[in-house]
Amino acid sequence: MLEHLPLFPEAASTVARQVDALYFFLVAVSAFFSLLIAVLIVVFAIKYHRRRADQVGAGLTGSLRLEILWSAIPLAITMVMFFWGASLYFRLMRPPADAMVIYVTGKQWMWKVQHADGRREINELHVPVGRPVRLVLGSEDVIHSFYVPAFRVKMDVVPGRSTTLWFEATKPGRYRLFCAEYCGTKHSGMTGWIVALEPRAFQQWLAGGPVEGSLAQQGEKLFMDLGCHTCHLPAGQQGRGPSLEGLFGRPVKLADGSTVTADEAYVREAILQPQARIVAGFQPLMPPYQGLINEEQLNQLIAYLRALGGPPPEAAPR
Ligand code: CUA
Repeated sequence: MLEHLPLFPEAASTVARQVDALYFFLVAVSAFFSLLIAVLIVVFAIKYHRRRADQVGAGLTGSLRLEILWSAIPLAITMVMFFWGASLYFRLMRPPADAMVIYVTGKQWMWKVQHADGRREINELHVPVGRPVRLVLGSEDVIHSFYVPAFRVKMDVVPGRSTTLWFEATKPGRYRLFCAEYCGTKHSGMTGWIVALEPRAFQQWLAGGPVEGSLAQQGEKLFMDLGCHTCHLPAGQQGRGPSLEGLFGRPVKLADGSTVTADEAYVREAILQPQARIVAGFQPLMPPYQGLINEEQLNQLIAYLRALGGPPPEAAPR
């Protein structure tokens, strides 16, 4: 119904309708009270206006019942907003474990995409319909924001950090992708398309086009080229660095006694600034790779570590 309104974007993801429902609830509540207050101001101004020059207003007497009522009603309404909004927020922030992982890098002024099988795209992102997709977002320069109105999802893309966003497209089509954070001269031109395909068409798309090995294989090659394997030995062997097999997604004990989960954000930091958090039982020997490898190479390494094992399965097309 609402997508027929000319200013309203199409709804093409599993969360789109839920986001719209909350949005309309907020608009309806705001409109109702704005209207109510405006009407009452006019009515009271007419009803209680001064009729004679020497007229004096009546004194006010308090009413406990009224006070309680006008506190309880707004409280109830705002609590509905809070719990509704929070539950939707949690849904948006928690990607399903079986989501297909795709790496997206923002740079002035384009979107670069790396699929798990090694396919690359620029300013286009092909995804299958009916399957959750999780994007791992990074930036090569400044803050960008990945925004797909038809999916009702948006996430900042921040340099030096790994952010994530997920969606599940519900119908095939081409949907606009925007950069929603002012990022320089050609910010307005930093747009693209999400191409949602039926699963079979998506498989055909993946199969077409040249590929130089999967993302994980590219990462493995880089791992060797950089000499990482000389310190990070296979499991069971004592190297200068910890073994990386089965690391991804698991807890890591640090030298300061704390524990972190080896997710994208941690692995990114461990490669770029290894001194920041040292693994328990190891010396701070690893050189920082900040500035030596780019975002796309970083994604290759992360995909390789992911493929080396750990709980969340890599995004093999199913
Ligand atoms: Cu990138 Cu605006």
